Amino acid sequence: MKHLIDPTDLTKQEIGEIISLAQDIIAHRERYQGSMSHKKLATLFYEPSTRTRLSFTSAMMELGGKVLGFSDARSSSVSKGESVQDTVRVLGCFADVIAMRHHIEGAQLYATEVSTVPIINAGDGSHSHPTQTLTDLLTIQRELGHIDGITIGFCGDLRFGRTVHSLIKALSRYKDIKVILIAPDELKLPDYIKQDVCERTGIPYREVTTMEEVMGELDVLYMTRVQKERFLDEDEFDRVKDSFVLDAARMSLAKKNMAVLHPLPRVNEILTEVDADPRAAYFRQVENGKFVREALIVKLLEWKDDPEHGMPADETPVEDPELRCPNKKCICNNEHAPHRFRRTENGVLRCWYCDSKVK
Ligand code: NCD
Repeated sequence: MKHLIDPTDLTKQEIGEIISLAQDIIAHRERYQGSMSHKKLATLFYEPSTRTRLSFTSAMMELGGKVLGFSDARSSSVSKGESVQDTVRVLGCFADVIAMRHHIEGAQLYATEVSTVPIINAGDGSHSHPTQTLTDLLTIQRELGHIDGITIGFCGDLRFGRTVHSLIKALSRYKDIKVILIAPDELKLPDYIKQDVCERTGIPYREVTTMEEVMGELDVLYMTRVQKERFLDEDEFDRVKDSFVLDAARMSLAKKNMAVLHPLPRVNEILTEVDADPRAAYFRQVENGKFVREALIVKLLEWKDDPEHGMPADETPVEDPELRCPNKKCICNNEHAPHRFRRTENGVLRCWYCDSKVK
């Protein structure tokens, strides 16, 4: 069965099909209204969300389907100690597809092991956020007319920003991408993305510490919020919270057709004076998110029983009772998920569920 847990669960061809369908939905909305009548989407949100959850809800409503679920785990049986796997087993009896957000990394991947319906990862901790990635790709396609060949600058919290991690993974499917990482030392991109994604797939990346030195090179500037809720140390958060701010003066250094993306919510990293600039694409991006989620729901239900569209064949997991995942926020340290690992091409052992380095 096809789930969407990580952006690399989709081939470039499948991403292309979802983006094309989203564009067709935008052009002919009336053709798709009612196409999901009698279908139900369950939204299981264990972590706060405005955009993502309502975007899924709105997408399913546009298609004529129904939505059920919870937006606060305290109001569900989770508060009685129910496991993620039991919750999805139950929800599979009520819904045709599940969108789940969880603060525990790898929770959705663990849930797929027992699910009878497709699961969509709507964000797991600071790990992955593949439907934001589809939103970003559709936005880049619509703003610039192409994805291959772009130079993209990621700015802000590259350490905890799951949208950044996921988009870089997906861009590794495209040709001639150049990545520029703009972040203070404390918020640098995790090594596993640099090594296992950029270096392994040959995406050139450069790390810089000011926006000014690279603004003129960028086709896309991807701004992010500093993820306060993921910091363990408040002083560290205070030191970096105002690191990079996009204003009109910095925009004047950029190309005439550069697109500014932001997954939102913004705090103060883009001044409102930038909103009126035609290159500010972040509110158009929100609407694209609804269309791309419509396309994703349609495609996942179409692909559900099609052997051509299974999950990617993965390596056999390494199981060793002596080894432990070091990440306290990983599913295997929070529920009874096994401590299971995969060996990457450069010989590093990583957690099967959250990608943390083991040794
Ligand atoms: C992002 C997220 O939840 O990771 N928002 C979103 O899904 N639109 C970014 C963020 O919270 O900063």
